[in-house]
Amino acid sequence: MKRIGVVTSGGDAPGMNAAIRAVARIAYSKNFQVLGFERGWKGLLMNIFKPLTPRSVGGILQLGGTILRTSRCPQFRKREGIRKAAENLALNNVDGLVVIGGNGSFEGALELSKETGILIVGVPATIDNDVFGTDETIGFDTAVNTAVTEIDKIRDTAISHERIFVVEVMGRTRGFLALTVGLTVGAEVILVPEVKCKTESILEIIKENSAKGKRSGIIVAAEGIGDTRKLAKEIEEDTGAEVRLSILGYAQRGGNPTARSRLLASLFANKAIELLSEKKGNRIVGLQKGRITSVELEKSCNTEKPLDLNLLWLANILAT
Ligand code: F6P
Repeated sequence: MKRIGVVTSGGDAPGMNAAIRAVARIAYSKNFQVLGFERGWKGLLMNIFKPLTPRSVGGILQLGGTILRTSRCPQFRKREGIRKAAENLALNNVDGLVVIGGNGSFEGALELSKETGILIVGVPATIDNDVFGTDETIGFDTAVNTAVTEIDKIRDTAISHERIFVVEVMGRTRGFLALTVGLTVGAEVILVPEVKCKTESILEIIKENSAKGKRSGIIVAAEGIGDTRKLAKEIEEDTGAEVRLSILGYAQRGGNPTARSRLLASLFANKAIELLSEKKGNRIVGLQKGRITSVELEKSCNTEKPLDLNLLWLANILAT
């Protein structure tokens, strides 16, 4: 192994830069050259890259986003695109590729692995935390903390005005972010796509709370549950309470990574380079029960990560 490529793809996540830095420096310590492909898979298709050295990745550890830039790249879903990327990797004598991203990026990586003999290792980085094979992804902890900080502020207004707030958090089709955020802000209701919850049940909780003397509340809703605007309106109309909707949006994706996101980024990168130096590819690295491990890329792509519903049960008890 002489030369490896690194790419960040899909939605940016805080800690991607920490991962790029660690990949570049650990690879250098093993005498590998590192090429950073820019703008996600587009960089592989268009052959846009820059050499990464220990010095060129200085000063980025604490920055959100990704210095390599990123994109969602529909061309990469097509056979032609995959072929082009494989050609460019061969042209640049790249022997191994580190893909920093989430499920969409790993699906692309899997297709690419079928087209080329190049060893590919995935480093899970997404605020959604929905990658099978790791208990936590890079960026998740930062996004949780960002959302918690914002919702604590919203709570002040909720209490002062005796209002109900529906707060929509990201997470794509999954409820990992909503569940952890909901539990840690003491949300009265947590709505995740994995558990269907009828509006009547939500109304019942709000009315019970009101009867108990709780005149305000926070409902944390994953974006994947559907129309939160409609939900807020229905709650207002039925209960007569003042209800407001707050969509936290892209602020959850940015900002300085927390220490935990930086630590995961460094440990994952270390494992990724270790695998490549042992000539092991087609795997994603991860954290499982406190240990840094790896699983097959294909298994990760084809398996749905389960949501721990015990946490939902706990959160409901804590919010009584
Ligand atoms: O995967 C990260 C994420 O922020 C999701 O939570 C969200 O659904 C999606 O990306 C938004 O994607 P885009 O940046 O393409 O609008």
